[in-house]
Amino acid sequence: MSVSVEPTSVEPSRNHSAPANAGPTGDSVTTGSAGSAGIAGSGADAGGPGEPQALRPHAEDAFAAELAALAAQDDRPRPARWKLSPWAVATYLLGGTLPDGTVITPKYVGPRRIVEVAVTTLATDRALLLLGVPGTAKTWVSEHLAAAVSGDSTLLVQGTAGTPEEAIRYGWNYAQLLAHGPSRAALVPSPVMRAMAEGMTARVEELTRIPADVQDTLITILSEKTLPIPELGEEVQAVRGFNLIATANDRDRGVNDLSSALRRRFNTVVLPLPETPEAEVDIVSRRVDQIGRSLDLPAAPDGIDEIRRVVTVFRELRDGVTTDGRTKLKSPSGTLSTAEAISVVTGGLALAAHFGDGVLRAGDVAAGILGAVVRDPAADRVIWQEYLETVVRERDGWKDFYRACREVSA
Ligand SMILES: Nc1ncnc2c1ncn2[C@@H]1O[C@H](COP(=O)(O)OP(=O)(O)OP(=O)(O)O)[C@@H](O)[C@H]1O
Ligand SMILES: [Mg+2]
Repeated sequence: MSVSVEPTSVEPSRNHSAPANAGPTGDSVTTGSAGSAGIAGSGADAGGPGEPQALRPHAEDAFAAELAALAAQDDRPRPARWKLSPWAVATYLLGGTLPDGTVITPKYVGPRRIVEVAVTTLATDRALLLLGVPGTAKTWVSEHLAAAVSGDSTLLVQGTAGTPEEAIRYGWNYAQLLAHGPSRAALVPSPVMRAMAEGMTARVEELTRIPADVQDTLITILSEKTLPIPELGEEVQAVRGFNLIATANDRDRGVNDLSSALRRRFNTVVLPLPETPEAEVDIVSRRVDQIGRSLDLPAAPDGIDEIRRVVTVFRELRDGVTTDGRTKLKSPSGTLSTAEAISVVTGGLALAAHFGDGVLRAGDVAAGILGAVVRDPAADRVIWQEYLETVVRERDGWKDFYRACREVSA
């Protein structure tokens, strides 16, 4: 069944524009550059009125207009095969206003230096490793970097404990192989091989989940910039413009799992948790707004107060101390990351839109908060109850929030 959603908004005043382009929705691991054309114009050619839209367009499609404006006004030198200069890539990530007045929305909210180091790394011969606790936008930044640098964020290998070497090197089309023997036509290149051949940015997600021997396949690729194909007596040499962004979660299993030989091929950039509550509120409201728009949810007029409360609760429990520094708290087992705060608020917004009066209230986020905080039904529940009774209950202006949380916790 295919359902097409008209790009009209539920609430006209908010000017919900549909994503610029409904790109191909197929398997992003194997589509790649054929599916998403260059930066300019890629947003204009799909998504006619009756056509189904991608639920989540790729960054290069969703922000095609911004990328095109940057490319048009970017007169700084671009490294080989880059769609933009490093300066323009950083501006795309951090946001800004171009000379002609075009506003570039910030994608990443955080220290400028981090983005600058990440972007310059991609212009060198070292690969980039984005490291951080869960929900610190590692995947998000990697996608946007690839979109801005190469105009294509889909050359992606998803790392799991079961990722085979073929996912990084190449595989075979067995029908072809049996019929005609090994040949270029029978070879199925991996996204990394394609990125090497085309001078693009490859992405490897969750690198430290990949078994060590498979990870080590990357060593030759990153140091020799070549991928031998012994079956054919050939090799694929990386052309200029090729680089690789890997992400790894330092909570999952340590970055120590990376062999030192491989680690030396990467420049590591650690993405921090948002430093201040204001920064985190800003990130959550921006993302909730974007996600809400893509889901055609009406904007919640007074949502910001509720977002502030969700962020306060998450930060206090995460840090193990109240904002005023007076009360020490126990931290629950969940990560309570910014990403989870975004999900809680988006879920609340959907509740408010479909079952409430459209205004985001404490009752809409309470269940989501409970679900995020109480991961371990025994220990976390005690921590949550204690927090409710000692902190939330006493806080000025939080009575409605306390009542709503009590109701769902009961
Ligand atoms: N500093 C930030 N700036 C902008 N968005 C952020 C920031 N921190 C988190 N987010 C948002 O959080 C969401 C989740 O981020 P993402 O999935 O990239 O996290 P991750 O670090 O890859 O997590 P995991 O380790 O679980 O894979 C994204 O929607 C992203 O926009
Ligand atoms: Mg991730």
